[in-house]
This record gives sequence, C-alpha cells and structure tokens, in this order.
Amino acid sequence: MENQFEAKLYEFLKLFWLRPENGMMCAFKSRAFEDIEFEGPSLDISCADGLFLFIHLGGSFGMDFDIFSATKASEFSHDKFVDIFDHYQPGYAPSIIQNPAVTIDYGTDWKQGLLDKAASLKLYDNLVLHDNNKVPLPLPDEHFKTVYSNSIYWVKNVGPLMKDVYRTMQSGGRAIMEVKTPYLLETLDQLEPVLSAEAVGILNRQRRETMPGTMTLDNWNEIFKSAGFEIEDVRNVYPNKLLIDIWNVGLRPVAHLLVRMADAIPAEERNAIKAEWVDIFFKLLRPLLNLKQTYTLDKAPYLCFILRK
Ligand SMILES: C[S@@+](CC[C@H](N)C(=O)[O-])C[C@H]1O[C@@H](n2cnc3c(N)ncnc32)[C@H](O)[C@@H]1O
Repeated sequence: MENQFEAKLYEFLKLFWLRPENGMMCAFKSRAFEDIEFEGPSLDISCADGLFLFIHLGGSFGMDFDIFSATKASEFSHDKFVDIFDHYQPGYAPSIIQNPAVTIDYGTDWKQGLLDKAASLKLYDNLVLHDNNKVPLPLPDEHFKTVYSNSIYWVKNVGPLMKDVYRTMQSGGRAIMEVKTPYLLETLDQLEPVLSAEAVGILNRQRRETMPGTMTLDNWNEIFKSAGFEIEDVRNVYPNKLLIDIWNVGLRPVAHLLVRMADAIPAEERNAIKAEWVDIFFKLLRPLLNLKQTYTLDKAPYLCFILRK
C-alpha cells in the first residue's frame, strides 16, 4: 500500500464493508488528527464500541471481523429508529491482528451494549456509562492530558459539556473535537425539491433530528472559547462536496438488509465475498482521497478543532 492514508482507508473499508462510504469518511476523520499524540492520561468521550479509535491508533482486524458482526439489523425499519450497533452478544470477540501502540485511560458512552463491545478490545483501561446531557461528567478534576470526541454535538446544550471537559483537563492538555456543521446534510436540502418526503426521510434516517448540537464555525469557536480553551488549529476534515454527496446517499437506505443478507450466509462464503467487495470499493474510493479542496473553512461540513487548556 502506497501510503498511510490508503492503508487506513483499506482498514476502515474492512470494518465498514457494507457501508463503504462510512469507511471512507472514517479515513478522512482519522487523518485530520493523525499528528496529535495521545499522551496519557487520555479520554475518549462517546467512544461507542471503540473500533474507530482502535484503528486510528494503528490497530488492525482480521477479515472475519467487522462492525456488522453483531447487530440488531433485523429490528430496523425506516419508520422506527433503532441503533443496530447497540447490541452486545456474549461471545463477541473481534479478531485482532494488531493492537494499537497505546491504550486510552477512559472511554465513556451512554449505551451499555456499546461499552460492552469496547471492553473486548482492551483499548480502554476504564469504561464509564454516562449521558453527556448531564454535567458534571463522573471524571476527576485537572486529570487528562489528551481528550478526544467526535460526538459532542449529540447533546442539547454543548456549552456546559465543554466547560466540564475543560475542568477534567490538566493545564497544557489538548482536546481534539471533531464536530458537524449544518453543511453536512446539504445534500438532503438539495434533494428535497426532487424527491418525495418519504424518500428524503429514508436518506435522512433521523439525522436532522438527532444532532441538535450542529453549529457553524463561528458558533463552535465561541463555544470552545467560552469554555476557556485556546484554539490552536481548526481543520477541514472532508475537503470536497463529492465526499459529502456520496456519504449522504451511499448504501445507508439498504444497509440493514445487506447486514441481514450477510448474516444469512455461511461464514466462509461471507469472508470470501467480503474480501472481493472490499477490494472493489478500495479501487473505487482510493482516488477520492486526493480530491481537491472545494470547501472554505467557514462552509466546511465537518471540522476538527485542536484545543489547548
Ligand atoms: C457517531 S457515534 C461515534 C462513536 C465513536 N466515537 C466512533 O467514532 O465510532 C456517536 C456516539 O455518541 C453516543 N452518544 C449519543 N448521545 C450521547 C449522550 N447524550 N451521551 C453520551 N453518549 C452519547 C452514541 O451512543 C454513539 O456511541
């Protein structure tokens, strides 16, 4: 593989094979802060099953494991929203080829099923069940040197959460916050006059409703400054609108059905199909890693803030 970015894309495509557009977005999300060292004590807020950070930090899984290995896909339909990944089955055991070089001191999430999955990676020394709508976080004062989150916008009121994150950090510590802006769902706005409301609903899959903390660059700057942080850098994570359009449609509408199909075939056949599938999407998506930047920072759909206490 030519470079680190391509190797990450391949690894994320293995993980997200039935949602290859998600694998591609993860590669961009990971690249945005690949230069930032995870100096301990470290914290990952809303870590979910830990699979993203595991790969970000250099971990690798066998072809027989992926994010669709244990889901509630059979319960999903477009008229009722179910988080298909919040589902721990005893025996869940990711096949790890390589562990990351570092571990993370704390991971938090509000879904126990996801934390149970994260525990099996042994990436996090402590896992804490917590709803970020409630502050203070059950974490010590002035403790962390590195804090990461790509999920703070899921709460109704981000300001108090960020003030509390500041409290938990050592002076000089760094926070990496990956956040959404209203431009992320621009594709849906553009399709609205063309498609039926039902079709837009299928593409939206409740994203508009469940991300209340989505804000513009100026608003994010204000939130982080009011919490006390110095803003060291702001990075444009997905440089080109083509990526956003692909991600906003992609295989999302039928993902639950693809998972059910994959679950219904014998493991050996599943792995053989998956290997070919991943190679095809790698060929298709690899050139997109080099797309030119079309977004200015103030119109960027997704931002990575590097913050200093
Ligand atoms: C898009 S996922 C990202 C998860 C993980 N960081 C990753 O990169 O794979 C969003 C995560 O935020 C969590 N989450 C949503 N609302 C939350 C809340 N109010 N409190 C804590 N976690 C929350 C979800 O359970 C989910 O794990």
